Amino acid sequence: MNAPHAPLLFSTRNGEIMLGGTAVSQLAARLGTPFYAYDASLIHSRVAELRAVLPSSIQLHYAIKANPYPPLLRDLADLVDGGDIASSGELAAALQAGFKPQTISFAGPGKRDAELEAALQAGITVNLESAGELERLHTLGQRLGIRPRIALRINPDFELKGAGMRMGGGTKPFGIDSEQAPGILHKIKRMELDFQGLHIFSGSQSLNSEAIMQAHKAALLLAHDLLNASGLTCPHINIGGGLGIPYFPGEQRLDPAPIGTHLQQCLEEHSVRLSGTKLILELGRYLVGEAGIYVTRVVDRKTSRGETFLICDGGMHHHLALSGNLGQVIRKNYPVYIADQADTAATEIVNIHGPLCTPLDILGHKIALPRAKVGDLIVVTQSGAYGSSASPVNFLSHPRPAEVLLPASCCAD
Ligand SMILES: Cc1ncc(COP(=O)(O)O)c(C=O)c1O
Repeated sequence: MNAPHAPLLFSTRNGEIMLGGTAVSQLAARLGTPFYAYDASLIHSRVAELRAVLPSSIQLHYAIKANPYPPLLRDLADLVDGGDIASSGELAAALQAGFKPQTISFAGPGKRDAELEAALQAGITVNLESAGELERLHTLGQRLGIRPRIALRINPDFELKGAGMRMGGGTKPFGIDSEQAPGILHKIKRMELDFQGLHIFSGSQSLNSEAIMQAHKAALLLAHDLLNASGLTCPHINIGGGLGIPYFPGEQRLDPAPIGTHLQQCLEEHSVRLSGTKLILELGRYLVGEAGIYVTRVVDRKTSRGETFLICDGGMHHHLALSGNLGQVIRKNYPVYIADQADTAATEIVNIHGPLCTPLDILGHKIALPRAKVGDLIVVTQSGAYGSSASPVNFLSHPRPAEVLLPASCCAD
């Protein structure tokens, strides 16, 4: 009756789900439950696959908000060309992980003066979100004797169609409306700031390559027009990203090859105006989302008016998106498995819940699973992005989940 989830990316051995060569039960014995585990080899392959289809001049930036776990960040610092941060906390994490300041850009509304000052001192690019932010940064730069390195974030007059999250188009708290941009660019020119480029992020979590290509094309046209009108040149145009991963039944993995071919065509079309300008793709979940799992243990099994409930030691306080409370309008089930896949014959329909005293703490609703008993491990895949860092981890004062990155060379046991 339900469409299946995209096939499991992880291997199994003796019927058990493996990650980076280690069985989930071994990880649970080492870390306790609940925990997140990330497989670096899957992240490396994802970056390599993407680079293989993208024009070689495209710069790949990692949106650190997707997963700021320090070992994972250190790994990515060597794999990608730069990082996008959204706070001074992420700035510290990025610098500590080894991202070079000149490759870091800072987007996000509501940057406080202390954050702008930290950005100036570190020498990173500030993606300006408003005219007010431009004035504050300029004044701070003059006071500190530092020439601000800036890019202008544009709220375009289009959106990424079908995106899970629309970040551009219409009225938005992000960026400067494209029709206001010429005036601001004029001001930037007068202020003699270190102009690094434009940032046009129209949306995220799209599995529709056609829609992504349309958004990239529209972003480039807009950038082209704005630069032409202002007479400014710049080293970078960040055209956003938007590449999604399949979370829910029936969703298919995105094929990045046509997106790469299309970007090559765009580069050729705009070669005169863009000579000396590099395009940046800014991606979060596409690079890390499928490389991570969340694991929780069944603590209790009960029935309520004919329905079976598995109650686990982890839940929405660690993984808000899994519970459906991070932007879903109608909740859908993430892919959920029992770690030990050996006996899949006797499946049953269960509700999986966490330990919080709220009906929102749902891990799976009416989901078919092999019969699970107390002590069994539940594995949630597609959990490498927007996991613990996007969850209310202080709610009910439960312990935070453990996290581990399994190195690319890892082949334990
Ligand atoms: C400015 C910006 N860049 C990058 C991202 C990352 O999006 P995703 O993880 O879907 O690639 C986001 C997500 O909200 C964003 O707001």
